[in-house]
Amino acid sequence: MKYLIIFVLLCLPVCLAYPLDKTMKKDSNLNFAQKYLENYYNFGIEMKNFVRRNDGSPVVNQIQEMQRFLGLKVTGKLDSATLEVMHKPRCGVPDVGHFTTFPGSPKWRKTHLTYRIVNYTMDMSKYATDSAIVRALKLWEEVTPLTFSRIYEGEADIMISFAVRDHKDFYPFDGPGFSLAHAYPPGPGINGDIHFDDDEQWTEDYLGTNLYLVAAHEVGHSLGLFHSNNPDALMYSLYKEPTDLTHFHLSQDDVNSIQSLYGPPPSFSDITMVPTEPIPPKSKKPDMCDPELSFDAVSTLRGETLFFKDRYFWRKIRLDQKPQIVLISAFWPSLPSELDAAYEVNSKDTVFVFKGNQFWATKGSKMEAGYPRSIHTLGFPPTVKKIDAAFSDKENSKTYFFVGKKYWRFDENSQSMDKGFPRLITENFPGVVPKIDAVFQEFGFFYFFSGSSQFEFDPNAKMVTQKLKTNSWLGC
Ligand SMILES: *[C@@H]1O[C@H](CO)[C@@H](O)[C@H](O)[C@H]1NC(C)=O
Ligand SMILES: [Zn+2]
Ligand SMILES: [Zn+2]
Repeated sequence: MKYLIIFVLLCLPVCLAYPLDKTMKKDSNLNFAQKYLENYYNFGIEMKNFVRRNDGSPVVNQIQEMQRFLGLKVTGKLDSATLEVMHKPRCGVPDVGHFTTFPGSPKWRKTHLTYRIVNYTMDMSKYATDSAIVRALKLWEEVTPLTFSRIYEGEADIMISFAVRDHKDFYPFDGPGFSLAHAYPPGPGINGDIHFDDDEQWTEDYLGTNLYLVAAHEVGHSLGLFHSNNPDALMYSLYKEPTDLTHFHLSQDDVNSIQSLYGPPPSFSDITMVPTEPIPPKSKKPDMCDPELSFDAVSTLRGETLFFKDRYFWRKIRLDQKPQIVLISAFWPSLPSELDAAYEVNSKDTVFVFKGNQFWATKGSKMEAGYPRSIHTLGFPPTVKKIDAAFSDKENSKTYFFVGKKYWRFDENSQSMDKGFPRLITENFPGVVPKIDAVFQEFGFFYFFSGSSQFEFDPNAKMVTQKLKTNSWLGC
């Protein structure tokens, strides 16, 4: 509690629609300025030293300090340029202090941190909220040795919640506008936690209050950063309206500050040690219309179809709609990239995901507890080291696993491998040429992917009915 910092953003959407009244009484300007200086330029005890001079003006050097910090002309007066900036939406963590971290520089003494999204806002879908939080964490994860994993129960290092008004931490929220959120610096208990004021209109785009940007700034506080006086920094105290969200990145100032606490990510030093090693091309976003495109895995998910490639998947909500590209880690932070296979069991509302000799179970964006498990728990012999592709037949709860030239059949009801397997793929799926990268079931057909080719297989006629390009589903 000692380092409790309130993170208030002043009347964000309201102020923008509320022009600064030039005729504002000098007195109300002074009251406003006094409050502002108390809140953001008096740290703890200094607040009590706030005095008004005989002429009624607040302490000139506090104004000067603020002007210096915000990059304004240092006049020591509440001129109109100063007042205008003071009315801008901002973060409520005080600006004074010469360090970029909290007093005493609390930082996490470990590099692996957990977070938990305790509850959600009604303003955005859970998916969009999860994605905003994950992307906010990623910004910091990419430039430090820190890693984050999500937990669904118990106490996480960073507990994230949405609350209104009094929410039992002595810092009640204030309804729409003004205070938007607050974050606590590193430490046990409430420290590290982030609270969002759910009376704000949270958005994933350019209207209202952008959750990703506010979350990214607050995560900076949760990791121990203080404000920067560099206007380009994410940790600058004034809220900036987003301009280009897809290309948003940390400034060098943010990177330097966080690396002064935690150092650079290990991979950076690896790259410096082996300067000739090129950055693997798979870190690039795959091009869905590349004629050579192949998939790692394909699965359905609650009526949608997901096409996995490297760190991404294309998500088709309906097969006749344009696909969206999504980072796997934005949807399932604890899943690896470059998956081998994925399939949905509708009756269990579960998608199983395979990589190497492990597999995971997910329900929507939620990971099931108790995973990853070894693929050998499914009954594969030790010679099978990985799965190429899999799908579960919606008709009979039989799951087909494709490995090299062979396939196995697993019974989801009895949870065991069917007898008489493996069999040769060419024997029961004539016309389908292994090796299979991915497979899924749709419209009563099985769609097999092998490199840039795709086979539409009719299980009743037991024949390939069409040969297609792999990316035919992506509208190419
Ligand atoms: C969300 O969780 C926080 C923290 O436990 C709590 O204060 C708040 O009331 C919860 N909000 C809702 C809508 O349940
Ligand atoms: Zn802040
Ligand atoms: Zn709170």
